[in-house]
Amino acid sequence: MPSGATRVAILGADGDLTARLLLPALAELVEAGRCGPLEILGVGLGPYTTESFRERAAPWLKERAPSVSEASRTRLLHALHYTRGDVTDAAVLGGALAPERGPLVVYLALPPAVFAPAVRALVASGVTGESRVVVEKPHGQDLASTRALNRLLHAHFPEAHLFRMDHFLGKQTVQNVLGLRFANRLFEPLWNAQHVARVEVRWDETLTLEGRANYYDRAGALVDMLQNHLLQLAALVGMEPPRTLGERDLRDKKLEFLRAVRSLSPQEVRAQTVRARYGAGRVGERAVPSYEDEDGVKPERGTETFAQVALWVDNWRWAGVPFVLRSGKALGSDRHEIAVHFREVPFLAFGQPEHPTCNVLRLGFNPDRLDLSLNLNGAGDPFELEGAELGLTLAPQRPSAYARLLQDILEGDPALSIRADEAEEAWRIVTPILEAWRADEVPMQEYPAGGTFEP
Ligand code: BG6
Repeated sequence: MPSGATRVAILGADGDLTARLLLPALAELVEAGRCGPLEILGVGLGPYTTESFRERAAPWLKERAPSVSEASRTRLLHALHYTRGDVTDAAVLGGALAPERGPLVVYLALPPAVFAPAVRALVASGVTGESRVVVEKPHGQDLASTRALNRLLHAHFPEAHLFRMDHFLGKQTVQNVLGLRFANRLFEPLWNAQHVARVEVRWDETLTLEGRANYYDRAGALVDMLQNHLLQLAALVGMEPPRTLGERDLRDKKLEFLRAVRSLSPQEVRAQTVRARYGAGRVGERAVPSYEDEDGVKPERGTETFAQVALWVDNWRWAGVPFVLRSGKALGSDRHEIAVHFREVPFLAFGQPEHPTCNVLRLGFNPDRLDLSLNLNGAGDPFELEGAELGLTLAPQRPSAYARLLQDILEGDPALSIRADEAEEAWRIVTPILEAWRADEVPMQEYPAGGTFEP
């Protein structure tokens, strides 16, 4: 191994996340020359040797990082080592990671229930606060477990060495919220309750369970998507202008926004939230069983595959403006966007009986787009209004969101990772909803897989 290589430990190396996202993203970085030499130390329960693990990883890389050259893929595979063992066993970690050789970047690619025991084992094996620890979302299972995990992490690692991953922050459209808002004169004067009627953050997916029952059936749409990704998007849309884009200023402003989001009362939870799950149907060509009949699902858990929540932000800028967050699986089409709906013009001199559609600014994902709907004089009768769209498509993102964030982690920059207080605040917001849903206070609705659902 080259001396001076960055040592990256992946706990849970035989899992889905490593195959789907981590190794392909590292391969992208190797290809783009965005990282120095790496030594990757995988630990997992799967029965592999380094040799058989490399053989297993080769097709993942080919499939998941098709734009990466064979030479870079081979380089990454050669950097890969595997130890079979329990990641909560200090002796296993001591042997696999050799902490005495110096600091590591440790990626916890694990289910949330294993975070704390794995951190304890890491510390007991000799990993010190000079190492960095990356925690995958959801960053805990609820407010109490997230607080406990943060306390445990802070007892051994400085916050600057902790990276709570939310891959949405690596998406170019998400980063563009900052450019659009804070590098243009145009929008900021209108970016408040006086001019904005509502903000919607929508993540409708055609994806179904995709074999992830083990994780998803314990999480559900609220915890899987809204608690982290969608609240982060809302925070970037709603936060005050930061002084710099450094980790402290940026994260302070997001935190300030999250702190202003009201904890919904039981009545508000009943009136402003929707939970649902998909019934049998077809998504495109694919026949999809009802969620309850998917492999590994326990219907008695009452897990939702669709969540919609209208939140209120109690501050001067946003008082009275709903932030509607929604995400669902197995819907008829993929629709991923942030939409800022502006209010009507105060007076219309056009004599039309009905008001024209209000302006909407949409930031779309996959393809990454920006669209602004306008009302213009029509081509026919000059005083008859017609809707028009101003739009642009951004070039596909390279490197991917995951790779961008991994590069930051390797460079030690936590600006685009979630700080402990942000993670706790996000749990504070979703906890009353989660509790009411678990107590069945909001009825579970059903939508057909492959259909639309606009509650
Ligand atoms: C993940 C969720 O964090 O984000 C998935 O666990 C979801 O359920 C995914 O499908 C959506 O993100 P992307 O970037 O794959 O569209």
